[in-house]
Amino acid sequence: MGTACLLLMLAVLSGIFSETSLCLNWDPVPRKTILFNNLKDIKSFSKIGVFNYTTLTLDEENKKLYVGAREAIFALNMTDVSQNSKLIVWEAPPEKKAECIQKGKNNQSECFNYIRFLQRYNETHMYTCGTYAFQPKCSYISLENFTLEDLVLEDGKGKCPYDPAKGHTGLIVDKELYSATFNNFLGTEPVILRNLGQHRVMKTEYLPSWLNEPDFVASTFVEGNWGDDKIYFFFSERAVELDCDNEQVVARVAQVCKGDVGGARTLQKKWTSFLKARLLCSIPHQHVHFNKVQAVFALGNGQETIFFGIFQARWGDVDVSAVCRYNLADITKVFNGPFKEFRESAQKWGRYTGQIPTPRPGSCITKWHQENGFNSSLQLPDITLNFAKKHPLMDDQVSEQPLLVKKNVNFTQIAVDRVDTVSQGSYEVLFIGTAEGWLYKAVIVKSEVHIIEELQLFETIQPVESLKISHTEKVLYIGSRSGVIQLLLADCSKYSSFQDCTLARDPYCAWDREGRMCVQVDRHFSTLSLEQDILQNPRRVGEKFHQSLVPSSDKLKPKNVTVVAGSSLVLPCQIVSNLAQTQWLFNDHSLQLKNGLHFDRQLCSLVIEDVGPSEAGHYSCFSEEAGVKFMAERYQVSVVASVPVFMEARTQELNLGLVWVLVITLGAVCLLLLGAVLYLRRRLKEQLGKGAEMKPLESTLVYPISLPKEPRNFVPSKMADPEDKFWDPVNYYYSDGSLKIVPGHALCPNGSAASPTSNGIPGQPLPTGALHSPSRLSIGNIRGSGSNGYIRLNLGTEERGEFNEELRKSIKQRNVLPDANPEESSV
Ligand SMILES: *[C@@H]1O[C@H](CO)[C@@H](O)[C@H](O)[C@H]1NC(C)=O
Ligand SMILES: *[C@@H]1O[C@H](CO)[C@@H](O)[C@H](O)[C@H]1NC(C)=O
Ligand SMILES: *[C@@H]1O[C@H](CO)[C@@H](O)[C@H](O)[C@H]1NC(C)=O
Ligand SMILES: *[C@@H]1O[C@H](CO)[C@@H](O)[C@H](O)[C@H]1NC(C)=O
Ligand SMILES: *[C@@H]1O[C@H](CO)[C@@H](O)[C@H](O)[C@H]1NC(C)=O
Ligand SMILES: *[C@@H]1O[C@H](CO)[C@@H](O)[C@H](O)[C@H]1NC(C)=O
Ligand SMILES: *[C@@H]1O[C@H](CO)[C@@H](O)[C@H](O)[C@H]1NC(C)=O
Ligand SMILES: *[C@@H]1O[C@H](CO)[C@@H](O)[C@H](O)[C@H]1NC(C)=O
Repeated sequence: MGTACLLLMLAVLSGIFSETSLCLNWDPVPRKTILFNNLKDIKSFSKIGVFNYTTLTLDEENKKLYVGAREAIFALNMTDVSQNSKLIVWEAPPEKKAECIQKGKNNQSECFNYIRFLQRYNETHMYTCGTYAFQPKCSYISLENFTLEDLVLEDGKGKCPYDPAKGHTGLIVDKELYSATFNNFLGTEPVILRNLGQHRVMKTEYLPSWLNEPDFVASTFVEGNWGDDKIYFFFSERAVELDCDNEQVVARVAQVCKGDVGGARTLQKKWTSFLKARLLCSIPHQHVHFNKVQAVFALGNGQETIFFGIFQARWGDVDVSAVCRYNLADITKVFNGPFKEFRESAQKWGRYTGQIPTPRPGSCITKWHQENGFNSSLQLPDITLNFAKKHPLMDDQVSEQPLLVKKNVNFTQIAVDRVDTVSQGSYEVLFIGTAEGWLYKAVIVKSEVHIIEELQLFETIQPVESLKISHTEKVLYIGSRSGVIQLLLADCSKYSSFQDCTLARDPYCAWDREGRMCVQVDRHFSTLSLEQDILQNPRRVGEKFHQSLVPSSDKLKPKNVTVVAGSSLVLPCQIVSNLAQTQWLFNDHSLQLKNGLHFDRQLCSLVIEDVGPSEAGHYSCFSEEAGVKFMAERYQVSVVASVPVFMEARTQELNLGLVWVLVITLGAVCLLLLGAVLYLRRRLKEQLGKGAEMKPLESTLVYPISLPKEPRNFVPSKMADPEDKFWDPVNYYYSDGSLKIVPGHALCPNGSAASPTSNGIPGQPLPTGALHSPSRLSIGNIRGSGSNGYIRLNLGTEERGEFNEELRKSIKQRNVLPDANPEESSV
């Protein structure tokens, strides 16, 4: 049986990758890629010695962001988290830590007080819980002076996990704490609990059919009519109901009623309203399911609530993440539908087809109940309660297909904002954090997802652990192991042209025809002059481009480039979008790609080898995206026959004096470079130490992360170390945007500067550029003055193809490696 199931799953699996008719946005490419050092307008907070800034709570009223970290709680200024903060130190005392270590827990990672719960309790106090070295404790925080009332520590059992690595969730509704976690030290007893407040303490029944090794991720309160207020919980757990594989993990949604006070005899102090259903996020017709729910975000309130779930799966050896969206109405429908039942005779689960008792098990006490004499759950008849106890699982599933599927990535968190556009209604914008510390910003357009951009949030690789949106401040807060980051929801100034602004499809931003700049829609009083097109009907956009004040081809000045015949020429074309195609025209005719002339996607450049007189003329580069074509770059190339003085030194008839000058110069250069190599080696070692944290090769290669594409707009990130010049486009480009080649150890004749070996880490290249046959290359003089910069690469005759490959590789490598110093790299 098991083997048959496995075979079936394998068959389905192999099908998924070959099937092309999938009507699904499979692995979309983010339109822009923004590396850490190009992040603009970010603010951050961290305190030396404090880690795991995991629990974020917003207080929009008092303009505070509360942060629960390891043994510390902070009150930050919501407007600017980097401003001075208030701190509560809440450590587990030494004797508790000693006990924790005695019980076999890790003294470096587990025996601390990790703050896992932090929410507003009443007007004057917050309630907080911490793992307290595997003995969870809770307490109140007085907001007036931001102090912990730690004289009265409450037992945190069931409110907060023992193990900081375990999933949990909780929320306070009307001064009552609902929490879902494990109730014991061993982490074997799962529970959904209600505490505090005037009601009795309520629990789930400790039965595998209720909760089976759950991993809780989220909970939401949804207000209903007539006592129909509910709390929904989201988690993954081992399925009890699947014949195929009872080790299988499935995603679940569960409910309890706020008014539930338990049964009188049956289900005493236990939820009478606990129901759960399978949450399916799967690709239609493929029977491929995303079974592990990682995070859930609730958008809107009341019956209009929409849930966005993040799911992870592993197919073969590929990690895949997906986003599915669920309506509350669909969940409610499943909870009102048929129940599942364990059939003793067949020893399996199936649909319950018998009579369902009245009042219906699992429902809240509503007006109907009260009118029919059931004033509270205590008055529910035993037959209803017994049924409820035995049938927590619904037969139907809450099923959706993914809005977004992305491979080679683990999504960890999601937050969603609903954004009003100028004239096309409102759109949902998703902010998705990954385990590698990237943030995707995406917009849902007609049940498909367009990824506006991907941002690298951290200098070192670490997961995004929490996301919170402030609607008043229009910012996103990101909690991580190393600190808190504050990011603007929208930064429209990064779209520098009309095309970029419109093609971005960023609902926050629109092109202002009057100001001729990309502006934030909600900061603009009049929308009359604003231009926006999220739906992006290509024809319409095209028309607009013609009407609008687009920099026309006349306005884009050509850059003059002079090359010596026989050398190689690299003409960069800065395309700001990963989704754009480039097209080159030569003297207004489409360029014939031939031997020695090709477009290099990685370099984003046209490469012409062995330039001859016939290659002189106009070159123009067009960007084409979503059916819109516009000129991005123009060059006027002149080819000269004479060889500059410096190069003549290489020819046979060079005089001896010049030889000596050259030898000495080269010797000095070599010495310098040796130093540089030693330095870089040290840097490399540090890099290798961090190697496990580097972004893996494949995910880097998925998108052509090219050289910085907008050197003119470059603004150094505030978080960046001012000493760190790496990744500064100034080191790559002349002011006119031509690629700059830094003369370096490629010149070294004995090859000592060439990178020694390959390193063991995929996707993590050597910082030294690694031209392995440097002696056969010679870099010509670089004429990079002002607007007239160009590159001339003079190559040994037989090496050109190889060189270009090397050039491409080495530049790409620098690109991938965030830490290389171009000053010391060679091309
Ligand atoms: C806390 O942060 C440290 C590093 O900053 C990390 O190694 C550890 O796994 C984190 N622990 C939890 C429970 O998140
Ligand atoms: C929070 O930061 C903003 C901006 O820097 C500042 O104007 C405000 O006074 C700060 N608020 C508090 C309470 O410190
Ligand atoms: C705690 O960890 C450190 C470093 O790993 C170790 O040297 C020390 O012996 C540990 N202490 C105890 C009490 O286990
Ligand atoms: C809020 O709750 C705390 C802790 O129970 C209590 O001391 C305080 O008086 C309450 N404040 C108000 C305004 O009810
Ligand atoms: C807050 O601090 C002030 C001054 O230090 C003190 O007078 C007041 O009693 C404190 N309030 C609380 C609730 O502790
Ligand atoms: C029903 O419950 C309410 C409070 O929940 C109480 O005031 C009322 O007296 C109860 N009615 C009956 C018939 O028990
Ligand atoms: C995703 O997470 C899994 C399990 O934690 C891990 O094995 C895998 O390497 C991760 N994949 C990526 C692409 O980070
Ligand atoms: C390029 O050369 C032409 C004439 O050859 C000149 O008019 C033009 O200004 C030059 N452009 C730049 C950017 O220097």
